[in-house]
Amino acid sequence: MFKRIPGTKDILPAEVVGWQKLEHLSREVFLAYNYTEIRPPVIEDAVLFDRSLGEFAEVVQKQMFLIKNQDDLYALRPEGTASIVRAYIENSLDKTSGFVKLYYIGPMFRLERPQKGRLRQFHHIGAEAIGSAGPEIDVEVISLADRLLRVWKIEGYKIKLNSLGCSKDKSELTAILRKGLENKIKNLCPECQVRFEHNVLRILDCKNTECQEVVKNLDIQDKYLCQDCKSHFEKVKIGLNALKINYEVSPYLVRGLDYYTRTVFEIKHESLGAQDAIGAGGRYDNLVKELGGPDVGSIGFAFGVERLLLVKSEEPAQKSGKLVFLINLGDAAKAYSYGLLNSLRDAGIAADTDYEGKSLKGAMRSADAAGARFVLVIGDNELKKNAVMVKDMQTGNQEEIGLEAIIDNLKGRI
Ligand code: HAM
Repeated sequence: MFKRIPGTKDILPAEVVGWQKLEHLSREVFLAYNYTEIRPPVIEDAVLFDRSLGEFAEVVQKQMFLIKNQDDLYALRPEGTASIVRAYIENSLDKTSGFVKLYYIGPMFRLERPQKGRLRQFHHIGAEAIGSAGPEIDVEVISLADRLLRVWKIEGYKIKLNSLGCSKDKSELTAILRKGLENKIKNLCPECQVRFEHNVLRILDCKNTECQEVVKNLDIQDKYLCQDCKSHFEKVKIGLNALKINYEVSPYLVRGLDYYTRTVFEIKHESLGAQDAIGAGGRYDNLVKELGGPDVGSIGFAFGVERLLLVKSEEPAQKSGKLVFLINLGDAAKAYSYGLLNSLRDAGIAADTDYEGKSLKGAMRSADAAGARFVLVIGDNELKKNAVMVKDMQTGNQEEIGLEAIIDNLKGRI
């Protein structure tokens, strides 16, 4: 028997209902904020991700699903931002639309060691606002993320916020860290000792308590931020306060992808344990230019759908409550009922039937299991009278209704 690849999931029909609801609510919120959907391919040139996320980023170093094709190296996308920026440039959206607000829903792939909330194929619901450097759009994007969480009815999350500053500030922060840590390397965890060489910023958000102690003693605060970046960050905070969005400034939040500049944020949910980020995002003001596009600022975020569903209180899967189930008794009724089934569906009424020639009792059980709202029974008797027996599964009432009136009758009641 074949089995799923570890870290992948079969999303079975009972669960799909929850997924569709989340997606539907998201689309409504995105529409309200005037974001339109984009669907880039899931496979891209691997170099796109090296360039965008940084060749020393963990995702690039260890987690890419790579596919070799003759001289080309493709990657299953580990995230959406790089693909969307590529699509923005390749399709000249800067020239046709200028500032764009896009959203996406789809699978991402990372070759991680699977555990609770950490999968190899997972899904993002994300947004990218490309083409504006103003702090107003940071406020909009964070408030959009917050609104999504409220509409999804997720409680108990925390928004952590920080500013990494511009490229110069990031270099400054890197230099402060290198200088401050050079005599303390042996006090760091083995992973941070490696990070010291290529990814020193990541030491800031290491979960190891000894590393955290070392970093705290450096007392960095926002010393590395230039005046412009400080002022940008202040405006973002003022905007969020005006909208009464709860957030916490976290000077140790750095994010694992290289493209970030200025505002970064992460949304955490304690109930998840080690993998507690349900979503994250930030500005990437240099990425569009670095990938060959115009010099425009951008910001976005992505939520991990599987993690959202882990923290969402389980709602039992609901049947639509709109299904009509047809039961036919006898050959003549059978021949007739397939036409009726078709007419119901033509009229936009969800309809199903028993395909296994079950007894009336067995077919009624199937109708019940399918969550039917009405059951129509047609036997030779009903056919003679040109009528159908209709059972309302909610009230238990039964009545005979003429075939010519049945569709209008059901339409009025469903
Ligand atoms: P990220 O933090 O790598 O950011 O991923 C965003 C979210 O995806 C995480 O907060 C988490 O909920 C979920 N996630 C990540 N990896 C996994 C996994 N292996 N299994 C399950 N869920 C996972 C980005 O990807 C950026 N592109 C976000 C962004 C958009 N920044 C700007 N625009």
